[in-house]
Amino acid sequence: MRVLASGLEYTDILIRRHLYPQTMRHRPPFVMGYDVVGEIDQLGDGVTGFDLGDRVADMTVIGSNAAYRTLRADRLTRVPPGLDPAEAATLILSWTTAYQLLHRAARVRQGQRVLVQGAAGAVGQALLVLGRLAGLELWGTARGAHAALIRELGARPIDYQRDDFTRVLPDGFDVVFDGIAQDGYRRSFAALKSGGLLCAYGYSAGVQAQRRMATMLMWIGRLYLWRWLPGGKRARFYSINLMRAQHPAWFREDLGRLFGLLASGTIHPRVAERISFDRVAEAHRRIEAGGLDGKLVLCPELPP
Ligand SMILES: NC(=O)c1ccc[n+]([C@@H]2O[C@H](COP(=O)([O-])OP(=O)(O)OC[C@H]3O[C@@H](n4cnc5c(N)ncnc54)[C@H](OP(=O)(O)O)[C@@H]3O)[C@@H](O)[C@H]2O)c1
Repeated sequence: MRVLASGLEYTDILIRRHLYPQTMRHRPPFVMGYDVVGEIDQLGDGVTGFDLGDRVADMTVIGSNAAYRTLRADRLTRVPPGLDPAEAATLILSWTTAYQLLHRAARVRQGQRVLVQGAAGAVGQALLVLGRLAGLELWGTARGAHAALIRELGARPIDYQRDDFTRVLPDGFDVVFDGIAQDGYRRSFAALKSGGLLCAYGYSAGVQAQRRMATMLMWIGRLYLWRWLPGGKRARFYSINLMRAQHPAWFREDLGRLFGLLASGTIHPRVAERISFDRVAEAHRRIEAGGLDGKLVLCPELPP
């Protein structure tokens, strides 16, 4: 495939620092790039159902920050004609994660009160938009400067540098989504109501604080012990790769549904900037520094 767009993600930072279980044994040099939208340029022997020029997408974990790449036909999802490749690329990791967190992991119901940690981030924004479509009442933690963005996405902002989210709802939240793991998910769990569910899916705070992989795996393991505490609260860890391995059809179905929402104009993913190859290193630094309000997407055909 000729690559048209490939997302740059916080997860790439984990991969680069060998803090991502699936790739931690990879040593440089290797090509990064978690997801890809492109156009079929050549077909292998025996491939049916696709034609040259078809637009397709895949989540590859690594290898897609490239001009061309080879993919297995049985892992491709079709991209409807007319979609902007950069916007489509944002849906592959970030929005499919959000969709599956809401509808496969937490199985949210209309009217539930839900807290999204890191709500201005790539997955956080998608959780707010898709959560609003699902009829949820939403709160989102973000830096103060992003309060207007959080409101625009249909949620009540909580400034994570100043406010205490555990005091916002005296009875607690039905569901908390946490990709940050500030204090090893403790306060997210404390913010739940009795019977509530914590869906953890990331540990950005641990990465920023240069914690060891073993510490972060311990935080994840501990989630499954907390269910034995009084109060009937539950906690689980979601991984898009584990869910794809267990339910490959769900991944294709959910990504296909998101492409449909983009094609109908129901969702508008924010692309902060389209990046050419020569600016990828700088893009990694910007993602690590924080403060972005949309995704950076590598578009290989952009001139340097
Ligand atoms: N399990 C999975 O399948 C899966 C899938 C996708 C992503 N992930 C992981 O999930 C995490 C989030 O991914 P992402 O792509 O959304 O990252 P992102 O775009 O970097 O977003 C993270 C957001 O969290 C905010 N933040 C930082 N510290 C915070 C705190 N203490 N409280 C509240 N918000 C805080 C950041 O805000 P500032 O701008 O203010 O720093 C940023 O807006 C990453 O660790 C990623 O690896 C996991």
